[in-house]
Amino acid sequence: LIEMPTDSTAHVLIFPFPLQGHVNCMLKLAELLSRTGLHVTFLNSDYNHNRLSRNSRAYVLLAQSPRFRFESIPDGLADENPRSAFHLMELEESVRTRSAIPYRELLTNISGRGDDGKWPPVTCVIADGAMTFAVDIAEELGIPAIAFRTISTCSFWAYFCIPRLLQSGELPFPDEADLDEPVRSVPGMEAFLRRRDLPSFCRQAGDEADRSLEFVTTVTANTNRARALILNTFESLEATALSHVRSHFPVTYAVGPLSALLECYRSHRPSNPAVSSTSSMPSASLWEEDRTCMTWLDTQPHKSVVYVSFGSLAVVSQEVFLEFWIGLVNSGQRFLWVVRPDLVEEAMLPLPEEVKVGTKERGCLVDWVPQEEVLAHPAVGCFLTHSGWNSTLESMVAGVPMLCWSFFADQQINSRFVSEVWKVGLDMKDLCSRSIVEKKVREVMEGQRADGWRSSAREMAKMARESVAEGGSSHTDFRRLIQHITSLSS
Ligand code: UDX
Repeated sequence: LIEMPTDSTAHVLIFPFPLQGHVNCMLKLAELLSRTGLHVTFLNSDYNHNRLSRNSRAYVLLAQSPRFRFESIPDGLADENPRSAFHLMELEESVRTRSAIPYRELLTNISGRGDDGKWPPVTCVIADGAMTFAVDIAEELGIPAIAFRTISTCSFWAYFCIPRLLQSGELPFPDEADLDEPVRSVPGMEAFLRRRDLPSFCRQAGDEADRSLEFVTTVTANTNRARALILNTFESLEATALSHVRSHFPVTYAVGPLSALLECYRSHRPSNPAVSSTSSMPSASLWEEDRTCMTWLDTQPHKSVVYVSFGSLAVVSQEVFLEFWIGLVNSGQRFLWVVRPDLVEEAMLPLPEEVKVGTKERGCLVDWVPQEEVLAHPAVGCFLTHSGWNSTLESMVAGVPMLCWSFFADQQINSRFVSEVWKVGLDMKDLCSRSIVEKKVREVMEGQRADGWRSSAREMAKMARESVAEGGSSHTDFRRLIQHITSLSS
């Protein structure tokens, strides 16, 4: 494993877009960098900083590490503003226009702040690639910037190809388009990509969808303003997409799955004061984790539970929520379901009596769970997921097959890859009637193909672990990344 000399003067500032899925993986990268001996400053929004300080064990532990510190700046929104999927463009605009000023000030003043001047100045910024301004400001101040994208390489590549789709006339879709028609203008995906697998913004009408599509297209094209690109993926998973991406962004480091790489470091470096070696995985939750679900899982048979979560941003109508609920109960399977306090749009409809009974017998509903621990639990048999990239990777690392119901943005492509390319689960995107949910849950848990998905998922977990082990592709890319970062401080 990589270790810096103790007098290393490399100091990295890491700045994620202020949302759960971005903070999670960038905090993992931050911990990894600090474990190699670099100085790391992690920059959060004040809003997330307060929530993480309350709810995240990893956050509290990392704050005690001598070469790690947290800073925070406003995201420009009031605390009561919603920050779910339907409000992302508002958050994006606010961060871009209102966080930019304190960010610039912080970067200018940071060395010597609150540390008696003992910390070296920032020598490199790793900014979320969704915030081009963070790259630009760092470079303007003479600090080299590297972009980190939290999405899969296949989604990144599809976003990059949106101008080609527009040029070829494949976008916008014609009126009443058949969403099952193939898409031709994303090289490497011609054999299996359909219109319905493109990012959700491609098929939605209205200003918000147009802004979102323009946003993802622009920030992806802007990646070349950074010195390098970091992706949370691994070579054997996304070799084709990675080679396309590298033909445009030659300095691309594929260092994932970060959760598995970090696990390697945590188990090899038990003496690190930041986070002790532990079999459980401290996470960066913005919500309070309900650990009673772990006790509930302990009482369930091997591979008998469907774990259900739609991530940190999805919002569903009460009708959709009920269809899922009834479908899950009717499947006869046990289920553990994360029902985030802001998951359902309106107040709940009254529940049919048999749903109440079925849930009492076989279900467990909680606000938020320690997801990686849940996925690693032997009682979990499949993951009904929204196909967010972190969740997808975490499921792969745990060797758990997926049933995908992608919600928006990059998730549509991820779920297609899960079923058609990686073959570690089933994609039921756009369908969630109670009968479909019941049928698909049964199929993944006990149908004829269930064993096949289980063994592919186990194989995938093995590949993921090989990639982060010494000599594996992600381990090697992480080493190259560290060399790159240290070369910037000499
Ligand atoms: C969105 C995008 O879809 C995703 O691809 C992008 O990289 C980040 O933003 P999000 O809804 O946040 O995704 O999902 P996901 O990427 O899966 O991240 C959710 C994170 O929350 C995961 O790391 C998961 O472990 C964690 N989580 C979720 C919990 O810790 N507990 C829970 O109960 C649910």
